[in-house]
Amino acid sequence: MKNNKRPLIIGITGGTGSGKSTVCKSIIENIPEENISILEQDAYYKDQSHLSFEDRLKTNYDHPLSFDNKLLIQHIEDLCEGKSVEKPVYDYEIHTRKLDETITIAPKDIIIVEGIMILEDEELRNRLDIKIYVDTEDDIRILRRIQRDIKERGRTVDSVIDQYLSTVKPAHDQFIEPYKKYADIIMPEGGHNQVAIDIVISKIRSQLNLI
Ligand code: ADP
Ligand code: C5P
Ligand code: MG
Repeated sequence: MKNNKRPLIIGITGGTGSGKSTVCKSIIENIPEENISILEQDAYYKDQSHLSFEDRLKTNYDHPLSFDNKLLIQHIEDLCEGKSVEKPVYDYEIHTRKLDETITIAPKDIIIVEGIMILEDEELRNRLDIKIYVDTEDDIRILRRIQRDIKERGRTVDSVIDQYLSTVKPAHDQFIEPYKKYADIIMPEGGHNQVAIDIVISKIRSQLNLI
């Protein structure tokens, strides 16, 4: 870390397919690596390795209880205290953590916390200094998700649609959208909103005394 100040913690949330991960990638690519780390809430899905693949398929991945937020909060606290943490690695194709793999995250000046339900958990929300909600219309999000989940997460059109109607959409309406009111910044359209992304990058650079 540049100095021993507490890191700036930036939360980036929004519905599935809104463009959160793409926004984070753009931010990270524009900040020196030694200054920024990311904790994706998806990496903190609870370990499911004790369940069969069939049971893991039946799990609801769009409920707050499916995340190990306790571990995520502990990792944020450790990083704030200058300690490194071992971030879990999640595999969407097998629906569980890779138990033999972690990524070491060192304490840095900026920590991004990214995920669908980071505002719903009050304890987690209270640790975020800047809260950004990536706001993209529902029809665009489902179209993006179908394409992404088939290309990158080993799914079929039917499985994405069934999951969307049974758990993803109801959860969005219950646990994600209502928490938009806690956001400091609303970022429309996600990944390619260069103006909004540049404003966040400028804020981070000024925090780091890079401009
Ligand atoms: P999230 O992490 O919020 O679920 P992603 O960042 O994975 O969303 O984006 C979902 C898909 O949409 C990805 O394939 C990504 O490349 C694409 N995408 C993201 N933002 C945009 C955008 N503004 N315009 C078009 N496609 C986008
Ligand atoms: O990147 P994104 O915000 O889309 O990631 C969260 C989504 O990942 C959730 O809506 C959840 O349905 C999905 N997911 C999944 N299978 C898993 C874990 C998460 O489809 N095993
Ligand atoms: Mg994502």
